[in-house]
Amino acid sequence: MKLAFATTAPESTRADALVVFAAPAATKGGAPRLLVADALPGAAVSHIEEALTALQANGKADEVRTLTSVPKIDAPLVVVTGVGRVPSGEQPTRESVRRAAGAAARTLGGRESAAVVLPVGAPEYAAAIASGLVLGAYRFDEHRGEKARAAATAPLASATVVTGRKTRAADGGKLSTDDLARAVAEAEVVARHQCWARDLVNTAPNELYPQSFAELVQKMAGKGVKVEVMDEKALRAGGFGGLISVGQGSARPPRLVTMTYAPRRAAASLAYVGKGITFDSGGLSLKPPASMMTMKSDMGGAAAVAAAVLAVAELGLPVAVTGYLCLAENMPSGTATRPGDVITQRGGLTVEVLNTDAEGRLVLGDGIAFAAEAKPDAIIDIATLTGAQIVALGKRTAAVLANDDALQGALTQAAADGGESVWPLPIAEEIRGHIDSTVADLKNIGETGTAGTLAAAAFLREFASPTGDDESGRTQPWGHIDIAGPSFNEGGPWGYTGKGATGFGVGTLVEFARGYTADRT
Ligand code: BES
Ligand code: MN
Ligand code: ZN
Repeated sequence: MKLAFATTAPESTRADALVVFAAPAATKGGAPRLLVADALPGAAVSHIEEALTALQANGKADEVRTLTSVPKIDAPLVVVTGVGRVPSGEQPTRESVRRAAGAAARTLGGRESAAVVLPVGAPEYAAAIASGLVLGAYRFDEHRGEKARAAATAPLASATVVTGRKTRAADGGKLSTDDLARAVAEAEVVARHQCWARDLVNTAPNELYPQSFAELVQKMAGKGVKVEVMDEKALRAGGFGGLISVGQGSARPPRLVTMTYAPRRAAASLAYVGKGITFDSGGLSLKPPASMMTMKSDMGGAAAVAAAVLAVAELGLPVAVTGYLCLAENMPSGTATRPGDVITQRGGLTVEVLNTDAEGRLVLGDGIAFAAEAKPDAIIDIATLTGAQIVALGKRTAAVLANDDALQGALTQAAADGGESVWPLPIAEEIRGHIDSTVADLKNIGETGTAGTLAAAAFLREFASPTGDDESGRTQPWGHIDIAGPSFNEGGPWGYTGKGATGFGVGTLVEFARGYTADRT
């Protein structure tokens, strides 16, 4: 989507639609309140409020109403989109505005252009609108036939965030148009990469497999990012026993993709490791059919890492980020790993594989151990790792675990900045014992039905510092994001989230890099 910021009077915009935010009335039964109503002519405001009352609209989240022929407004359509309840004396949250912009974009298919009235005079809100519009207008039509594609209405093509002449800065200072324009441009970069992550996840698993995923990343990476691909031969030679074990049942061999963004004068170095199971059948510990239907999305972590690294590079953030994509297809066959097999992972840890469906931790173990060899300031892995994450936190909130409280806090803050819902979980002390093996260093499952997300994290933690703390006594800071629930939306569309892949994680990883740099410099 083409995005811009402008200080044209909203009433005289030439766009196909003018988008205005609304919040429920403070008192029951009252008309919804238009946000930044003073940016519109009074006659337009009273008309819109009367129309909304007649329509029994109340400005709640995901409520979008389209009005025509609004007096004093040049645009043929006025779209009113609800942000939900705003506590009195407060501003709507950035996230509520982002969702409302997304809901509006979903209804604007087939239109060429929209102008969106800034509800709060601050660059963060312009960014929230830009992000919501791009994500809300997202479609995935790659797999539709030509006829269906030709018949489909095109998504909204362009949008301008506009301030009224009277819009003041929320903090009382001067509203800088440069800052607003930059916020829109930066938000567009992140949202475009979130859409790319969605594309990767939505692509059918017969088309997106380790090799084709690696090739897509190579094709997408610009000059600032170096991409290296290790094939199955290199992985075997390098002792990547987890990737080899998970991939050996498939006709599509595994890959490890390393993406390096290393700007001059980097203030810090981060490693992002993504689980990239392009299809998870469970292997010989085969999943039941219903559980397999969404398992093309089991590479959502790797997609988030790939997209985040490219976004960080395009934004030119002063932090070095290396992305590791652990790509394999988990299939049953005569060459597949058997429950009971013992493997040796990168770094030397041996693992008794008792359930081949607990494969994510095996490929990530290799990736984390490999990342740790470069001693980055922090390693973050992200993965659709456990069904237990969904049991604990539901389908819209990811779990964050870490071996370092400060890092867990920083990741949680980054998620809030990036508009993603996460919640911290502990790696309780007794959980480490759950992954003790009678024959090897570790086993790949904990106790059935008990803290599955924590046990998986306890397993991964072992790989962050393969020999425990290194010679210097330094513990490798490591954090883990389990996105099993939020990576894929099986329900109906809401806010800027359509059905299917969500792109969850990209926002957190980009904001983590941004925040990490800011703390250091
Ligand atoms: N990819 C799944 C986890 C998952 C489940 C993601 C549902 C998204 C939605 C993972 O590989 C898996 O199968 N985990 C097992 C682990 C168990 C065997 C220890 C699980 O959670 O059941
Ligand atoms: Mn699995
Ligand atoms: Zn999996």
